[in-house]
Amino acid sequence: MGAPHGLRRHAAASACPLLAFTVHNHMSRNVSFHWHGLRQLRNGWADGPAYITQCPIQPGQSYVYDFTVAGQRGTLWWHAHLSWLRVHLYGPLVILPELGVPYPFAAPYKEVSIMFGEWFKADTESVISQALQTGAGPNVSDAYTFNGLPGPTYNCSSSKDTYTLKVRPGRTYMLRLINSALNDELFFGIANHTLTVVEADANYVKPFSVSTLVISPGQTMNVLLTTSASPSSQAFAMAIAPYTNTQGTFDNTTAAAVLRYNAPTPPSSTQNLPLPALPRYSDTNAVARFTSNFRSLASAQYPARVPQAVDRHVLFTVGLGTDPCPSNQTCQGPNGTKFAASINNNSFVRPRSALLEAHYQRRYAGVLMANFPTTPPHPFNYTGTPPNNTFVAHGTRVVPLKFNTSVELVMQGTAIQGAESHPLHMHGFNFFVVGQGFGNYDPINDPAKYNLVDPVERNTVSVPTAGWVAVRFLADNPGVWLMHCHFDVHLSWGLSMAWMVDDGPLPNQKMLPPPSDLPKC
Ligand code: C2O
Repeated sequence: MGAPHGLRRHAAASACPLLAFTVHNHMSRNVSFHWHGLRQLRNGWADGPAYITQCPIQPGQSYVYDFTVAGQRGTLWWHAHLSWLRVHLYGPLVILPELGVPYPFAAPYKEVSIMFGEWFKADTESVISQALQTGAGPNVSDAYTFNGLPGPTYNCSSSKDTYTLKVRPGRTYMLRLINSALNDELFFGIANHTLTVVEADANYVKPFSVSTLVISPGQTMNVLLTTSASPSSQAFAMAIAPYTNTQGTFDNTTAAAVLRYNAPTPPSSTQNLPLPALPRYSDTNAVARFTSNFRSLASAQYPARVPQAVDRHVLFTVGLGTDPCPSNQTCQGPNGTKFAASINNNSFVRPRSALLEAHYQRRYAGVLMANFPTTPPHPFNYTGTPPNNTFVAHGTRVVPLKFNTSVELVMQGTAIQGAESHPLHMHGFNFFVVGQGFGNYDPINDPAKYNLVDPVERNTVSVPTAGWVAVRFLADNPGVWLMHCHFDVHLSWGLSMAWMVDDGPLPNQKMLPPPSDLPKC
């Protein structure tokens, strides 16, 4: 469990820096890597999700992820994108502004990346493969981590197991926060300190200050932390704890780290530091309050290019469901069934070869079906009969989109037991979060309340527990782009789909050809 390695790069002299990461697979299992949040314009070959944009890199093989960072800056990250391997294989990807372009706020004294993660006592590949075989829910993790360190929560009381951020009094630090946990949205706070949010998913936002924030797996957030000029203590605890509405799987873990002021004598123990007051684990209102604060800058320098007209309306139901247990098996899911997860009652089946190659060669037969439903096949209603997600179809289905289609996507959460948010992440695009609410999405009245002026631009948004979220994006990136719940357990159960975007008419609107070292299945 080493601290993740960071990558920093100025979007420097050339406005489009080229990056190339060569991966040599020295493991005994397949792997692939995703550069989470980078749009990979026309270049899905470097996007990374296994069996979507490439076949996995097999043991002993190499692959070069070769790409251009076009016009993006901010905090992103990279992670393995096959099964649950990202539990260990992840790191920050920090793109600094172009040289000479300042932040739209006073320059911080220092910048620090902090990645929240999860740690399991067991081998996570066995955890998930066993869960998939039995149809049960997988074991929850044994600890959360700060930059790979579990802190004093899991019999790790020695200070070398606790992440410590050393600070000076009266300075402003920028924390680049990244939630790389597998399966939990997290609350984060620092005792006696306020955090000012300035960026989300590598897009600047109008600054707002909070004592606690919420961050979903896949999301990144830059916050300014101004240290006290005369601190009341030499050290303060930082803590993360899960936001979850499903008490049955709540594992009651709070992980702590230390904010330590540069003082002559370090505190003898970090165990007794008062923790920040984080909301209760199921405090959905605290989450909704926090989420409602996000606004993009929408300034002359950083305009919000929100599609004002919509070509294509898509409505997805998103949630967990179950499958009947095959007659020759004993299933350990709810009522003897098997867990499944779905979008519009389709549970995604991983293909045997990569979708992007099939798309590039226009050879779809036996690989994918372009008939993913764009309206729910089973009407969903929170207030009517109990939500029914058991009619799950299984298939490798995609939604085809013409180049430059402007899409409005409404995602309605569903739930069969308890309720849970789903952090939906979209590859290849950012989207604008134009509206959200609780209960059933109302297609007549809700659109009238959309924010089409300064909505936040992100790559990952939580479909709220017992609610819905509406996003808009422009399909200006040809290729095949995965969209999925960033809880790995839900991804393993099929909570994903893909958009298949055509080439445009101009030469610079077409997919680039595949690299010669593209792995084979
Ligand atoms: Cu960060 Cu498809 O993932």
